[in-house]
Amino acid sequence: MAKDDLIIQSVVGINDLKERMTINSYNGFHPKFKATDEKTCQWLRHNFKNVSATIERNGKSYDIKIDQIQQGDALFKLYNFPNELRKLTIVTDRLIRELKSRGFLRFHVDQLASSLSVEQREIANVNHLIQNIKKGAQQRDKGKVVVEELLDHARDGDLNTAEIVNFIKDVSQDPAMDAVSAMVGLKESDQTYAHCIDVGAIFLTVYYDVMKKNNRKSIFKNDQEAMFSSFLHDIGKSRIPKDILDSTIRFDRDSEEMKQMFNHPVYGKEILEKMKMPDYVINMAHYHHVKAETTMASSYPEVENYDEVLYETRLMSIIDVYQALVGKRSYKKSWTPPAAIRYIDTLAGVEYDFDAWDDFLNIMGRYPIGSLVELSEQSIAFVVSVPEGDLYKPGVVRVRNAGGGDIDDHSLLNLADSDITIEKDLDSTEIFGTQGLEVFSGIQLL
Ligand SMILES: [Fe+2]
Ligand SMILES: [Fe+2]
Repeated sequence: MAKDDLIIQSVVGINDLKERMTINSYNGFHPKFKATDEKTCQWLRHNFKNVSATIERNGKSYDIKIDQIQQGDALFKLYNFPNELRKLTIVTDRLIRELKSRGFLRFHVDQLASSLSVEQREIANVNHLIQNIKKGAQQRDKGKVVVEELLDHARDGDLNTAEIVNFIKDVSQDPAMDAVSAMVGLKESDQTYAHCIDVGAIFLTVYYDVMKKNNRKSIFKNDQEAMFSSFLHDIGKSRIPKDILDSTIRFDRDSEEMKQMFNHPVYGKEILEKMKMPDYVINMAHYHHVKAETTMASSYPEVENYDEVLYETRLMSIIDVYQALVGKRSYKKSWTPPAAIRYIDTLAGVEYDFDAWDDFLNIMGRYPIGSLVELSEQSIAFVVSVPEGDLYKPGVVRVRNAGGGDIDDHSLLNLADSDITIEKDLDSTEIFGTQGLEVFSGIQLL
């Protein structure tokens, strides 16, 4: 969600230009600027002194200072406004009138999210999420390496958390982690390192939204502590030999290897106790595999009473299994995000805490952001927003038409306001191969 004070960058037409926006560049022009006459060139040189421009001359594109513009050039962009020309970038009613009369039609602007209409805000939220996808993917790759190194060093007896603390400091300043939860179904995951980062990223997004929605207070001292405990919920795996951890073979339930794996929550508790971590951080590592029905064979370690398991741990255990189902595993086919949601839904109240499940579902929706779906009109679309009301009717963006052709002209379709429905969910790998994330991050709403 875009925060009210967030600065959103977007492209707007002259009729949507409003006071309080700041123009970064002029990007759309009246046809007279496509083959400029000498008078227009003179006027540009005089009024846009020292501004940079992108032009086309004899079929080739050039970046020049506007002073070098020549008769016949086609103007595509004006940018890099010097300070003395700020009056051409700070939007006022007078500037809008002036720009309109001169034939300037489209602009790249900065604006506060709070100054947008509901529809513009929805579009800005989607664009903001998509812009963060690439950055989020980089952070995820970096986090994965940091977690792997931490576990490797811990295995050699050297528990050094400095790197992960630095990584957390880095990403807690940055909203791109939000985007990571949208890409879990679109990017390959291993079962330990990227898994930890994905679980942590989803936990943060969901947990803080739940707290805000229900007007409850976080138990964590700060974001960094919340990140630390969710990224390191599987820290106990550092005591398990690496060949078992990284194995792509699925071990038998009764095998020696699985017995070791079942110990990781207790190892985690011991490690975090040694580090003198707060009780709730230890609880998350210790009890994240405890089921609501604590007597189930798949519930471990033993607990006296499910009340020992904190709400935060219960919520994380749902995210843990969701990521494990959706993230691709070499020994089994991955699930689509909506299929994973349907599956966990059948286990809520038995394996997973019902209230935590309800909270998770209301934030993630029936079709989590990043899900690929086929619509009733047979087009293919990505889910880009979770609806407030009916969770079966998210906001989507169509990327392929009924005939199978790619759609480049993207628009937001709120299924809640439409007769079009979701026909079925699709596996992005089957449709786009390894390019799913590429297609998703190529979405741009105007
Ligand atoms: Fe675990
Ligand atoms: Fe886990």
